[in-house]
Amino acid sequence: RPFVDPFPPLPTLYTSVGFSLYALLATLYVIPAVGPAFIRANLKGVDLLKLDKSPVPESQGLVCASIYILLLILFIPFAFSNAFSSTMSAKGPEGLSVIEFPHYQLSVYLSSLLSLLIATVLGFLDDVFDIRWRHKIPIPIIASIPLLMVYYAEKGNTNVVVPLPLRFLFGTLVNLGPLYYIYMSLLSTFATNSFNILAGINGSEVSQAVIIALSVILNDLLYLPWPLDFRIPLHLLGSHTEVEVGGVWSAGMAYGSRELVERHLFSLYFMLPLLAVCLGFMYHNWYPARAFPGDTLCYVTGMAFAVVGIQAHFSKTLLLFFLPQIFNFVLSCPQLFGLVPCPRHRVPRIDHDTNLLHPSQAYFEKSPSPLTTMVLRILAALGLAKLTPHPTTGTIASTTNLTILNFFLVRLGPMSEKRLVQTLMGAQVAGSVLAFVVRYGLAGLVYDG
Ligand code: UD1
Ligand code: MG
Repeated sequence: RPFVDPFPPLPTLYTSVGFSLYALLATLYVIPAVGPAFIRANLKGVDLLKLDKSPVPESQGLVCASIYILLLILFIPFAFSNAFSSTMSAKGPEGLSVIEFPHYQLSVYLSSLLSLLIATVLGFLDDVFDIRWRHKIPIPIIASIPLLMVYYAEKGNTNVVVPLPLRFLFGTLVNLGPLYYIYMSLLSTFATNSFNILAGINGSEVSQAVIIALSVILNDLLYLPWPLDFRIPLHLLGSHTEVEVGGVWSAGMAYGSRELVERHLFSLYFMLPLLAVCLGFMYHNWYPARAFPGDTLCYVTGMAFAVVGIQAHFSKTLLLFFLPQIFNFVLSCPQLFGLVPCPRHRVPRIDHDTNLLHPSQAYFEKSPSPLTTMVLRILAALGLAKLTPHPTTGTIASTTNLTILNFFLVRLGPMSEKRLVQTLMGAQVAGSVLAFVVRYGLAGLVYDG
């Protein structure tokens, strides 16, 4: 029998699944148990879209983040259990071979935990103090420095493969160098804030996290060396710069280098418990919500995605899973950058007689500038917003708030809160399906693998 490397540590993956089940049960149990304590600590909010104005515990993402991070810390010895056993007993063809402890992987793991902790602190402070935008934006960028340093230490790739039609201009590879690091640090800010501005109806924040986590997990599973004859053609896994395939890893198993498998295992170790705490929380946050996530949940989940995208080298694939968030962010830009007034809450408006949601409005106090008018007219022509003209002057008096939730209501008509969150989830799933088609289907057309 040929020498069989003790890798892959699939049993460790099963341990991670076990930890995640604990995380699910713990979240299900702890969220309602600590609700009254949160209310006593003034961590509470009223549900904007209900008649009942009794306080709902807010920032309960803190419970999810605590369970998540504690379990990730407890999991450290298991994640490296393979190193313990292989240092002692891995038998190569020449007898005992000593494999060095994977310090690099430990630094990947620890720097990821550090970023998650900073995101938790930032999110919680935002819940308590309502931090200003100009302070909120740079903090995740700083929080990503440990990740970038580890990426650099590993001589991480900063090349991008040029699509076939543009190669005559740029050649096959373009090295973005420092720009690539800037892009990765912006990814952490984008991922954390984009969840937070796609919020305000029961289940919206956490359902985005659940669907993206499921998509990332599915993508990771494609790279594991399943013992079955379940193979993905090498050129699909190996296209682009995100992965460097080091050849066939082991006969009878899927293709891909050991490094590639390790990176996606790392991603699974971080995604499985995240999915678990989010599912547990979703049970309590589902319509009608008994708990609110607060900014803490948005920041922690967003940072977790940025962490795995950077550390496991699939940040571009990850961005494809964020299509609804990108849409919502781009649509929000006129309000975020001050062209159009941005009220404190942009959530849809409820008509309590019918219990249906309608698009909410942003009102102009004085007539909008020519630039604002042009931008809004373009958005309205594209069906992304609905404008109300001033009865006497004819200038724009108000516009529907520029969010994906209001966009659904503009296009599909009024609907209940539950139906709106289901529509959002449908869009997120459709985005992920499209992402897989683009990544594994169309990539072959644009890149030659
Ligand atoms: C972001 C949005 C804001 C949106 C708010 C809702 C931008 C720029 N900001 O602000 O438009 O109104 O999120 O979360 O887009 N709430 C509910 N039902 C829910 C969840 C939250 O009514 O299912 C309300 C509660 O009153 C809760 C409050 O939203 O207390 C939380 O808002 P907060 O997270 O502080 O708002 P921002 O993140 O600043
Ligand atoms: Mg928020």
